[in-house]
Amino acid sequence: MDIAATTHDRILILDFGSQVTQLIARRLRESGVYCEVWPYNNAAPARIAAFNPRGIILSGGPASVTQGDSPRAPEEIFQIGLPILGICYGQQTLAAQLGGVVESGHAAEFGRAVVEVTAECALTHGVWSPGARETVWMSHGDRITVLPPGFRVVAQSEGAPFALIANDERRYYGTMFHPEVVHTPHGAALLRNFTHDVCGCTGDWTMGAYRAEAVARIRAQVGGGRVVCGLSGGVDSSVAAVLIHEAIGEQLTCIYVDHGLMRAGESAQVVATFRDRFNIKLVHVDAADMFLGALAGVTDPEVKRKTIGRLFIEVFEAEQGKIGGADFLAQGTLYPDVIESVSATGGPSVTIKSHHNVGGLPADMRMKLVEPLRDLFKDEVRALGFELGMPQEIVGRHPFPGPGLAIRIPGEVTRERADLLRRVDTIYLQEIRAAGLYDAIWQAFAVLLPVRTVGVMGDGRTYESACALRAVTSTDGMTADVYPFSMEFLTRVAGRIVNEVRGVNRVTYDITSKPPGTIEWE
Ligand code: XMP
Repeated sequence: MDIAATTHDRILILDFGSQVTQLIARRLRESGVYCEVWPYNNAAPARIAAFNPRGIILSGGPASVTQGDSPRAPEEIFQIGLPILGICYGQQTLAAQLGGVVESGHAAEFGRAVVEVTAECALTHGVWSPGARETVWMSHGDRITVLPPGFRVVAQSEGAPFALIANDERRYYGTMFHPEVVHTPHGAALLRNFTHDVCGCTGDWTMGAYRAEAVARIRAQVGGGRVVCGLSGGVDSSVAAVLIHEAIGEQLTCIYVDHGLMRAGESAQVVATFRDRFNIKLVHVDAADMFLGALAGVTDPEVKRKTIGRLFIEVFEAEQGKIGGADFLAQGTLYPDVIESVSATGGPSVTIKSHHNVGGLPADMRMKLVEPLRDLFKDEVRALGFELGMPQEIVGRHPFPGPGLAIRIPGEVTRERADLLRRVDTIYLQEIRAAGLYDAIWQAFAVLLPVRTVGVMGDGRTYESACALRAVTSTDGMTADVYPFSMEFLTRVAGRIVNEVRGVNRVTYDITSKPPGTIEWE
């Protein structure tokens, strides 16, 4: 168990496989409560006792409590006297395990619903008043038909007579709706009442405290050893590097492998930020010739990715050999990468999400790993970056893929085409920033298409490349929606690109969501 867990109030979230379980954790963290997500079937009593939570939340899940072999919460949690909140499936298994009845076959409710508040309880105190009608987000097929002993109804909806239930004496609560999603407008406040008022958490999980603990933990782990960190210029590796540097100073060396497929000005910015501003030992390897040479004639997206990944490791290993090796390898692994996910059937098979990052170096480098961001969500990493005094341009930047511009140039990648794309991308991002839209967008970039189209400029005919613009909103990159720019914005950007970038004479806007599209084109 880590230090964060031993020094803060904490809540345990048992996951039954809902798509939105991580959002429970995020809402809790936002209100200053440390929490961890564990699979419901990997929560032995001794493990829970060692974690020593102040309360337990049972998540939603895709199974039906009415089926014999469906998942159940460990029986022991009902004997340790801790407050429990069951959400959706969690509410149903709570009810079923405590002597209530759950039935299927009633009208399902999916999406926005309205509940009528009929009473008050510690969860609703100061948030919902009796008699009010409140909006919530539901996603259920089954429902409770008989309450377990000791429970009463606090809110009801048309489809769920027991939309919010409470057992005040035992401090058990259940919601049929999902308070963790933003579509339940007062959901975060209800969760806060549970963690702060019912469980007694004080909200002591702050980035300032985390920074100090993380520094202590890195020092304890590394001792007098040497750490090497592959810096990509992205948010995660950047924050990890600055944090580790704060902990061990000169014992850290960062290696920035510049594959020549970064955006305009990016490499200079990385060097200026880390070497000049933060005084971090930084090896800047200009390997553009090597990468572009190896990519000559390659058009298959997977071959491109593999070529870049292989070279990246080769260059990194050579450079870290030059500095005399290291004992530890630092990585910017985040909490979503390490949460064990529960399989959709709720069965015992448990998988670990695989890390999807070309900067993720292979474990067979025989170095021990330092992963100081393992407890954090992306938004917490950003908060930590600001806490460490890092600039907005680094901390707030859009994700950028390890293979860089190579996967935004369908067909062969050449230096000329990379330069062309950089110029298009620069104009697009300048306009996005000028319009104040950068932070509202998860990721925006241009793609240089392997097609030439006919155009007319002045009195002349042009026959040049077409490009596509992409901008999406997302929370984690797993799904994405197209950003709804105004026509006025898009035509302004298109006008600038075609007029200012010789070699591009047509601009299109990609309006594909994910799924079925992916965010990147390759
Ligand atoms: P896709 O294209 O799969 O991308 O919808 C989802 C998110 O992941 C980023 N991405 C990568 N990031 N190495 C990375 O570090 C990669 O190889 C890679 N491929 C895609 C992509 O930019 C988006 O944010």
